[in-house]
Amino acid sequence: MKIPFFDYQSLFKKNEKNFLEIFSKIGERGAYIMQNDLSDFEANIEKYTGIKHAIGVANATDAMQLLLKAGGIVPGDEVIFSSHTFIATASAINSTGATPIPVDSGADHLIDPKSIKKAITSRTKAIVPTQLNGRIADMSEILAIAEEHGLQIYEDAAQALGAKYKNQSAGSFGLGGCISFYPAKTLGCFGDGGMVLTNNEDIYHKIKLMRDHGRDIDGNVSIWGFNSRLDNLQAAILNFFLKSFDKTIERRRYIADLYHEQLKDILGLHLPPSTNSDQNHFDTYQNYEIETIKRDHLKKYLEEKGIGTIIQWRGKAVHEFKDLGFNQSLPFTEKIMKNSLMLPLNMSVTDEEIKYICKSIRIFFNE
Ligand SMILES: Cc1ncc(COP(=O)(O)O)c(C=O)c1O
Repeated sequence: MKIPFFDYQSLFKKNEKNFLEIFSKIGERGAYIMQNDLSDFEANIEKYTGIKHAIGVANATDAMQLLLKAGGIVPGDEVIFSSHTFIATASAINSTGATPIPVDSGADHLIDPKSIKKAITSRTKAIVPTQLNGRIADMSEILAIAEEHGLQIYEDAAQALGAKYKNQSAGSFGLGGCISFYPAKTLGCFGDGGMVLTNNEDIYHKIKLMRDHGRDIDGNVSIWGFNSRLDNLQAAILNFFLKSFDKTIERRRYIADLYHEQLKDILGLHLPPSTNSDQNHFDTYQNYEIETIKRDHLKKYLEEKGIGTIIQWRGKAVHEFKDLGFNQSLPFTEKIMKNSLMLPLNMSVTDEEIKYICKSIRIFFNE
């Protein structure tokens, strides 16, 4: 068998006719920038998440940068984030002139509230939890910490569209959240794309202007901005995928359960929480990240069996980029980075293939 980690070509082939129709309709209208498909998509996401405002932007990194700037993060502030995230979280913080302060994660690979508490200083202004792998962090505890210390919360929900915690959507817990539509995301487009989600009116009005050079509809500029608009063509593709997004999530959760059932008794293998592990979380499984001290050998073994796997961010946590000035030691995050491996979980992989992957993993651990 040959099972790629992610099969971009088959995703295109499966719905090629629909995509070509979308391309030609948009081409015939010449509707490329800030057109109906974008405003429709924004309205659709607002309805889907129950969050008041969705603003399509160029990518999730920009979305976070816009959020932090609109929320008033300035040079001299410190912003706490989990080091177990993509560098984009930290670079968005850095772009405001604030100092990104990385902290450790807990057993579910998400930001650890105890580490947040330890990192708070008089300069701390905000916490940015990354809702990683389609799962939301323990927001009750994080909200309590933020309230006690008067801190803002912005969610890096790049990997978590559709995920819920206590029935509340990713992106709705603080001043706002960013979403990524990178092609391999649960809702992905054909290039870069992102979104700001916010229930805050002031942030909404600012970012609506800031994503288009600060201009209002009359061309007046009252705030410094950027060019960070989600392309209309990408929005049309995303509208197409959004129609079946519930089914997509259902299928992803089903695959996670298949993995869980077939791998749960293997000693030395740590699995992500299963779909029914607790009532508070509704996870969308952007990734299925397993952990073992034999990670590198397992990866090689699966490769020989034709199975593609990926080590998230090539095994490097943000605080490990010492050239950027980080000097923290975060033992739990370092362990996660050393031992984690992502198995194929996407809309192309079949049940048979999952069984083959699990069987191969079992043979590896038995040998
Ligand atoms: C956790 C996390 N944050 C931020 C980003 C940045 O998203 P984008 O590539 O859309 O800027 C990603 C993308 O992979 C991500 O996984």
